[in-house]
Amino acid sequence: MECQALISIYSARQRGSWLWPSVTLNEFQGVARRMAAVSEAATMLASVPFFASLDNKRRKALASDGKELSYKAGESIVGEGASGVGFYLILDGKVEVRKGSRVLASLGKGEFFGEMSLIDDQPRSADVVAVTQTRCWALSSWSFNALVKANPDIALPMLKELVKRLRAANSSLID
Ligand code: CMP
Repeated sequence: MECQALISIYSARQRGSWLWPSVTLNEFQGVARRMAAVSEAATMLASVPFFASLDNKRRKALASDGKELSYKAGESIVGEGASGVGFYLILDGKVEVRKGSRVLASLGKGEFFGEMSLIDDQPRSADVVAVTQTRCWALSSWSFNALVKANPDIALPMLKELVKRLRAANSSLID
């Protein structure tokens, strides 16, 4: 859709018939940037184990449903107790999952967070803070839930990751 818009704008310009005088170069560049971000997200989604079961077309559709968000080092992404409206995939950078002063986990490129509130409709279970400049691909709760319902294959690898995190949390209680 965006791709078609971009091609139409480009060919109108080539033909010398600038059909949409209201489209500025800035807007044109904005669409191009968004397309590059969607393509990067689709590539990243392909490398995430629980999105691996999706075919290319679905991954692209999913990528274009999301939005790229950037955070500075030290910036809060998710606040404990807040209501959950998004699921986040880390495109690059590093975040910490914190409960008070305790660090529960460090997550980096290709890892995800924010799924818990979307699964059980409860407030965010922890803070998530960017520890370096971080870019995330964020999906709305609506897209995330529709995705899991339409593709139950995703649920098992996601469960595996949740179990892995639970085990790590359990062993940190013992340490
Ligand atoms: P959510 O509760 O929506 O928001 C905070 C997120 O931090 C949570 O989803 C998980 O994605 C993540 N999280 C919470 N606890 C842990 C943990 N022990 N290990 C790794 N990630 C966690």
